[in-house]
Amino acid sequence: MSQTIRILGIAGSLRRESYNRAALRAATQLVPQQANLEVFELDGIPGFNQDEEKNPPAKVVELKRRVRNAHAILIVTPEYNYSIPGVLKNAIDWASRPYGDSAWAGKPVAIMGASIGAIGTARAQYHLRQTFVFLNMFPINQPEVMIGNAAERFDSAGNLKDETTKKLISQLLTNLVEWTRRIGAAPR
Ligand SMILES: Cc1cc2nc3c(=O)[nH]c(=O)nc-3n(C[C@H](O)[C@H](O)[C@H](O)COP(=O)(O)O)c2cc1C
Repeated sequence: MSQTIRILGIAGSLRRESYNRAALRAATQLVPQQANLEVFELDGIPGFNQDEEKNPPAKVVELKRRVRNAHAILIVTPEYNYSIPGVLKNAIDWASRPYGDSAWAGKPVAIMGASIGAIGTARAQYHLRQTFVFLNMFPINQPEVMIGNAAERFDSAGNLKDETTKKLISQLLTNLVEWTRRIGAAPR
């Protein structure tokens, strides 16, 4: 019997009616049987200050603990000005420090994102992939889940109603679990 894969999901928006937080909620319902997906909310993390990196705020200590405890990470990013939002980059930076004590190192990671525009966070996702190089994270490549025209894909209560998007998210999570086992980030 394979061990359950623990996935930690992080959405890069603090907005109450965020499409990205809604997409992450949808993902918690689409996770394959041999895995579970818990959500970490980014609210309350102050701006990164390197003077404090050896004495980080409690929320950052908690973030690092949750990342370390996870076998794999799912990041759901909005696109802000063709890149990733500051709140997401800020959280990534905090949990990568101090040098040599990054919580991200060696973690398998999947990404997806929702935008009200047609391109569905493609540009932000490629910027995010670039950060994985120095973080030494191992992203899966496909499927690319870029949820364009998000306003049409969720109902007014924030439920994902688009079946094609649901299938893509399911496939992404299935691939993440398979990848996590394949690279040995989780016991078989
Ligand atoms: C500061 C800012 C910059 C944005 N830049 C982009 C952008 O470059 N590309 C895009 O598709 N949408 C852009 N948007 C629109 C977002 O797609 C939209 O606000 C979306 O709802 C944000 O994600 P959320 O619903 O998870 O908060 C921007 C929004 C803000 C607030």
